Parts: sequence; C-alpha cells; structure tokens
Amino acid sequence: MNQFKNVHILDHPLIRHKLAIIRDKNTDTKTFRDVIKEIAMLMAYESFKDVPTQEIEVETPLEKTKQTIVKENSIAIVPILRAGLGMVDGILSLFPAAKVGHIGMCRNEETLEPEEYYCKLPANIDEKVVMVVDPMLATGGSACDAVAQLKKRGCKNIKFLAIIAAPEGVEKLAKAHPDVSVFVSMLDRCLNEHGYILPGLGDAGDRIFGTK
Ligand code: PRP
Ligand code: URA
Repeated sequence: MNQFKNVHILDHPLIRHKLAIIRDKNTDTKTFRDVIKEIAMLMAYESFKDVPTQEIEVETPLEKTKQTIVKENSIAIVPILRAGLGMVDGILSLFPAAKVGHIGMCRNEETLEPEEYYCKLPANIDEKVVMVVDPMLATGGSACDAVAQLKKRGCKNIKFLAIIAAPEGVEKLAKAHPDVSVFVSMLDRCLNEHGYILPGLGDAGDRIFGTK
C-alpha cells in the first residue's frame, strides 16, 4: 500500500511483462540493457504528463493553427552512476534535446551508506525540471543524497524515477523530500540483510554492464 501523496506506483501490465524478463537471472546482458531502456521510456511517458510546454504556430495543408510542443531544453536527466546510466537513452528517445548531468554514488556494502564520488551537472540546472533516475531504490540512501545535492544547487522541480523499489526506500525518500515526485514502476516486498531488494533483480549496475 502506498500512503505517500508524492509517490506514484505505475504497476502497468506492460511493465510487469518487461520486469519478468529483467528479474530472470538467465537474461543476458544485452537483453537486460535493452529492457531497462524500454521501461525507462515508458516511465518517462507516464511521469511527464505535466511536462513544460509552449505554443507554436503550425501551418497544415489547410490553415494556420496554434499547437503545443514540449519545451525540451527545460528538462535535465540526472542518472545516479552507474546503474542510472542504463535509463538515460530510453528517456532521451522521448526528449532528445534534454540535458544530461551525472551524480556518482556508490553504496558502501558494509554500512549500506551512499558515498558521492562524482558530480557534473548542466548549466542553469536550477531552472530545469530535473529527472533523477536509478533503476533501484533500496534503502533510499543514494536517492536521498542525490536529491539533496541537487537541492543544494538550487533545483526546485525534481522527479525521481526508479524501476524497482523497496518499501523502506520509498518511505525514506518520500519523507525526506516530500516536494519530490517519486515514480516507481513496481514496489517489491522488502530488503534482505545485505540491502538487496526482494524479489528484485540483483545488482542492477553489474547486470547492465556485465561486470559480474
Ligand atoms: C545501486 C543502485 C542505487 C543504489 C540503491 O548502486 O543503482 O544507486 O545501489 O541502494 P540504496 O537505495 O540502498 O542507496 P550501487 O551502489 O550498487 O552502485 P552501481 O550503480 O555502481 O552498481
Ligand atoms: N542495488 C541494486 O543494484 N540492487 C538491489 O537490490 C539493491 C541495491
């Protein structure tokens, strides 16, 4: 059950279908990567119903008409390295002119606390709608820190997209940043004693990059 107003669980049959593929431990690296990209695109479609738009004039073969287009350069995508990188291309396929920043976070596997090792963001990020992306929201530590970094740089309109989340991570992020809209394609059962999501899909970064 989701009791947080700022959290949206997409839970769509098409996404469930794709999740079944990436959860399977026998899925190869290329398929895993491709499906992560497809889910990211579907999530971007769903989470950008309030995308900034502008009116332009278009001439059809019959007459001039006012039409609405997306203000693509008002959007920044910020993947949390490494695994978040896997979601970027899917979102760029919908918003090709979006800017991309990077935040490097690594979870200390003993303490489960996030450690930031890199941060490079587009100019004027404080004026953009910022979409922070990471396939996994586990304890929520990485997500909370990444969002806090962006707020320090003046970002006011932040969305967070995770493919799979644990209830623990959703609660932590929703409470720490109630002004951030959190989109999750599926809410899983819980975390195990090592901070992995159950049933989950294992280590998203390792599966995207084939490092294990
Ligand atoms: C994973 C994942 C998230 C983080 C989630 O990254 O991609 O960034 O863990 O865990 P949390 O919610 O408990 O902070 P990881 O630290 O494994 O780094 P990687 O992307 O380089 O594999
Ligand atoms: N990070 C991952 O990649 N997977 C998990 O299940 C938890 C954190």
